[in-house]
Amino acid sequence: MRTLGIETSCDETAVAVLDGDGRIEFALLSSQIATHAPFGGVVPEVASREHLKALPLLVDQALQRAGGPPELVAVTAGPGLVGALLVGVRFAAAFAWGRAIDMVAVDHLDGHQVSPFLDLDGGPARVAPTPVLGLVASGGHSAWYLTGAEETTRLCRTRDDAAGETFDKVAKVLGLPYPGGPGVDRLARLGQGADTTFRQPRLKDETRDFSFSGLKSAAIREIRARGLEGLGEERVGQAGRDLMASFEAAVVRQLLTPLPDFVKEHRPVVITASGGVAANTLLRRELEAAGASLGVEILLPPLGLTTDNAAMIARAGQLARQRGRRDDPRRMDVIAREVWHPPGMRRQIERQHAAEKASFASQGEC
Ligand code: KG4
Ligand code: ZN
Repeated sequence: MRTLGIETSCDETAVAVLDGDGRIEFALLSSQIATHAPFGGVVPEVASREHLKALPLLVDQALQRAGGPPELVAVTAGPGLVGALLVGVRFAAAFAWGRAIDMVAVDHLDGHQVSPFLDLDGGPARVAPTPVLGLVASGGHSAWYLTGAEETTRLCRTRDDAAGETFDKVAKVLGLPYPGGPGVDRLARLGQGADTTFRQPRLKDETRDFSFSGLKSAAIREIRARGLEGLGEERVGQAGRDLMASFEAAVVRQLLTPLPDFVKEHRPVVITASGGVAANTLLRRELEAAGASLGVEILLPPLGLTTDNAAMIARAGQLARQRGRRDDPRRMDVIAREVWHPPGMRRQIERQHAAEKASFASQGEC
């Protein structure tokens, strides 16, 4: 099924067309980074308006340049900014309805998870073996998932900031442009990290969940203590480069700490990483090293597909359609943030939330 993918969950308007084997026939992205940069982060209303301008133009180009007319529309329906998502979802619904073709609503995180199986050099998408152990680390999410033949289970997640958000917030204090992850990556490559600068958090429960907010505060404190605030990439000097190397190492270490246990427990065939943070040089290097020592294949998305894109949404939609999923364009809605999950995960997440609520209540913190 030739599939049109549409992604508007945050600050990139992205459109792609995949043929029935998941070959990318067309992919185009209009980034709003420059528009939001003066604000130091994404302004939701501005994002929606920019999507509204760009989306029809991109789809027009997609229709002209793809190998043929799409037979399926896949669109990100959450999580994300509600207004931004609505632009994509309503457009996709009208497109599907007007052309009498199928439509599938896609979870943005499912999209990231299939990105390692796509080929940017014109090849078909690789069929994912199971089980897959997958890290999704982006500006809004940080979690490990296990995808088996039947369903996807979340093994752990961040309790507060996402890894990408942590990079962005620390980078902002240092005076790096938004999004800050690539700048921290560049500085860290030129620095010498010290293992002792940042401690790893310890959660007082059985989960292997992450917590990045303490690390974020500690990094910001260090930036200020060393007089590096607002200096920017050119002026932070070796002290800034070294600090960013330590900070980046602490983020990566935390993301990879549960990996050996997860491998032992779930015996994955492949380990993947996806989301914007999967572009990080140290994370990619450490994952490759972990894969070699654990004896498991590591599959990383091409750099061009780590951050938000529509090819991954089209592919996730294609796979969902193959499993029988179809959404009614007249009833499409958007669910922002945590509430949108693949059907197989809903019960697990409800149980987790109930347990967390109970544990917070018993600590008197809620
Ligand atoms: O997946 P993505 O495009 O958007 C979300 O779904 O959030 O991820 C964007 C995030 C940003 O926080 C950005 O700083 C981070 O990915 N990022 C990186 C790198 N490239 C992008 N973080 C660390 N190192 C990088 N090289
Ligand atoms: Zn994303």
